[in-house]
Amino acid sequence: MLRVCVIGMGPIGCLHARIYQEDPLVELVGVCDRIEERAQTAGERFGVPYFTSAPAMLSALAPDACSVATGGFEYSSDHYEPTIQALEAGCHVLCEKPICNEIAKAEEMVRVAREKGRCFGIDFNHRFTPAARLAKSWLDEGRLGDLLFVNMALWIGRPGGFDSPYFHLKALNPHSVDMMRYYCGDVARVQCFAMKAPGRNFWSTASINMQFRNGMVGHLTSSYDIARGHPMERCEVAGVKGRFVVEDMWREATLYPAGDPVKSVYTNPVFGGYRDFDDTFRERIHTFVKQVSEGAAPAEIDGSGADGLAAQKVIAAAIESLDTGRVVELL
Ligand SMILES: NC(=O)c1ccc[n+]([C@@H]2O[C@H](COP(=O)([O-])OP(=O)(O)OC[C@H]3O[C@@H](n4cnc5c(N)ncnc54)[C@H](O)[C@@H]3O)[C@@H](O)[C@H]2O)c1
Repeated sequence: MLRVCVIGMGPIGCLHARIYQEDPLVELVGVCDRIEERAQTAGERFGVPYFTSAPAMLSALAPDACSVATGGFEYSSDHYEPTIQALEAGCHVLCEKPICNEIAKAEEMVRVAREKGRCFGIDFNHRFTPAARLAKSWLDEGRLGDLLFVNMALWIGRPGGFDSPYFHLKALNPHSVDMMRYYCGDVARVQCFAMKAPGRNFWSTASINMQFRNGMVGHLTSSYDIARGHPMERCEVAGVKGRFVVEDMWREATLYPAGDPVKSVYTNPVFGGYRDFDDTFRERIHTFVKQVSEGAAPAEIDGSGADGLAAQKVIAAAIESLDTGRVVELL
């Protein structure tokens, strides 16, 4: 059994803790939040010791693995410190997205994990659903043939204003860029337009063009401006032999073979299927603890820190393009 702690007991840290407690590979041994009330509430809810200092928890409990579910400025500035503390303490770490919006710090997180030989994953929960994995298997089996284009879109209502003009670009798009990289590989060039919808003080809807290293072209539409209730994510990948569309992470995946009027459709089953968004966390977290339990090499981690860093670099390039009006090359 893997002995696991969670750092950051907001809604998402509590979700990690609940999922760990339900996972047969894991014993949840402690929780931590620097807000005492949150730490105590979570400790009592999960029946485990609680702490207000991550280093104190790491040294008292010496867990095998840790989730870092802190937030902060642009929903990520608090990821760096506890991730480094946990890695230095010898833990494998599963960190929430975005890895870190300061690229130099994100690079250091990846470097420290590599130097310590620890597994470092990012909670890219969208890529772990049965529908997303089936689509990946279609691609790996060559059923799309030589790849041509990818169209990704994610729109999710988040009312209000933010203290960063780039909040939506940085906090939402790691998932979408990761899905695009998962299917299509590394991004070489980026160009971005964005708008501030009426009443907004930040770039709330964006249109991002990409060229991939393999020559494919791609596009990402992202928005915080459409109220929830209807489908919210769509990923389409096309090659000369076929095209697939994954709808809403887990709802449906459809393969359209080129020149064949018969399509293959996977639909989320009524019995045993996903019920809601929380289930995407369950599969992602289980994959991480399974890989760690089975002794996976850090480089084998599905949805790794390196993937998180690569996604953040694409987003940083999109922001540079938005600010300068130029196409930005990724080195
Ligand atoms: N994967 C997904 O689909 C998904 C969805 C929503 C949010 N998220 C991510 O989850 C993270 C958490 O989101 P949230 O809404 O629960 O945030 P939140 O701000 O409500 O909670 C974060 C908690 O971390 C605590 N914290 C910060 N630094 C700490 C430290 N060094 N030691 C101990 N505690 C610390 C804060 O006190 C706070 O209680 C964010 O990074 C967000 O981007 C991911």
